[in-house]
Amino acid sequence: MSRSGLLVDGFGRIHTDLRISVTDRCNLRCTYCMPLEVTFKPREELLTYEEITRVARVAAGLGIRTIRLTGGEPLLRRDLAQLVRQLVAVPGITEVALTTNGLLLADQAASLRQAGLTRLNVSLDSLREDVFERIARRSGVDRVLAGLAVARREGFDDIRINAVSIKGLTEGEIVPLARFCRAEGFHLRFIEFMPLDAEHAWEKSQVLSGADVRALLEAQVGPLVAVTAADAGQPAVDYRWGDGTGRVGFIDPVSHPFCDRCDRLRLTADGQLRNCLFSTVEWDVRHVLRIAGDDAEIVSLLRECVAAKRAAHGIDTPTFERPARAMYQIGG
Ligand code: 5AD
Ligand code: SF4
Repeated sequence: MSRSGLLVDGFGRIHTDLRISVTDRCNLRCTYCMPLEVTFKPREELLTYEEITRVARVAAGLGIRTIRLTGGEPLLRRDLAQLVRQLVAVPGITEVALTTNGLLLADQAASLRQAGLTRLNVSLDSLREDVFERIARRSGVDRVLAGLAVARREGFDDIRINAVSIKGLTEGEIVPLARFCRAEGFHLRFIEFMPLDAEHAWEKSQVLSGADVRALLEAQVGPLVAVTAADAGQPAVDYRWGDGTGRVGFIDPVSHPFCDRCDRLRLTADGQLRNCLFSTVEWDVRHVLRIAGDDAEIVSLLRECVAAKRAAHGIDTPTFERPARAMYQIGG
């Protein structure tokens, strides 16, 4: 495909990854993401699987290659495996991954695997039920662990665990999570807390940096050796344990923004295209779909969205403006 056919922004970044949120609902209430009391979007405002697949097909024609399904909690959407089957069949799509909190994974891992899901990312911030509940405001550790076990038994072999780091809250979870993931062969990634919580409680002082987490791991578990990224666009910086027993990565959007390598676009559950997690503007693809617009109109919208992308999110700049949506309404 020629470069002119691709989704290239004003800074030369080529977009090959599309994050699709399938619902804003969730069975947890993580403080860094959702409010405790929440009104979800009515069903008719969400894109149908046919509508999502159509956008994916048009985007694949413009060079999108990988898709990640997110939420809210994507496994709450009925028969998600059906959407996976549709997306895997889109010409040009080479990977369909899923980010889930894992609560419903034990029931769905087999059907997702059969549908052709390529990879799983499971969010797990703590192995201790009391800390898990302090963060998620609901219980769940046992169900997540059961889900992980079933997923692996069903053949998912490159499972990643995402753990959000928050100062004063998760320090005690770092070493146990690392030991668990190392023993079980899961690829653990620590993510810095970003200003996307619904309750607007985020403060810079609560960000536990990837560097701090790494220092703690090296002091208490063992040396870490940097590895060259397999995928140039990936936000994580990965390390392997000195003794060769697996990997641990760091996603540091606050201390080390990776905007210069960003290759992703987002589609919210209610059909809005976003060029950044922190985007304050959206492109209404649902409108185009529902007035029976043709594919060329979807192409135009995708191109406009990409062309308007800013150089960086600017969390650390004085002009930084929080997006109106919180994480559960965007999709991680
Ligand atoms: N900051 C950092 N990570 C977050 N996530 C959700 N909200 C935030 C936030 N405010 C994480 C979830 C999940 C991933 C999709 O994003 O834990 O692992
Ligand atoms: Fe649900 Fe994930 Fe948000 Fe937690 S982070 S409330 S699991 S969508």
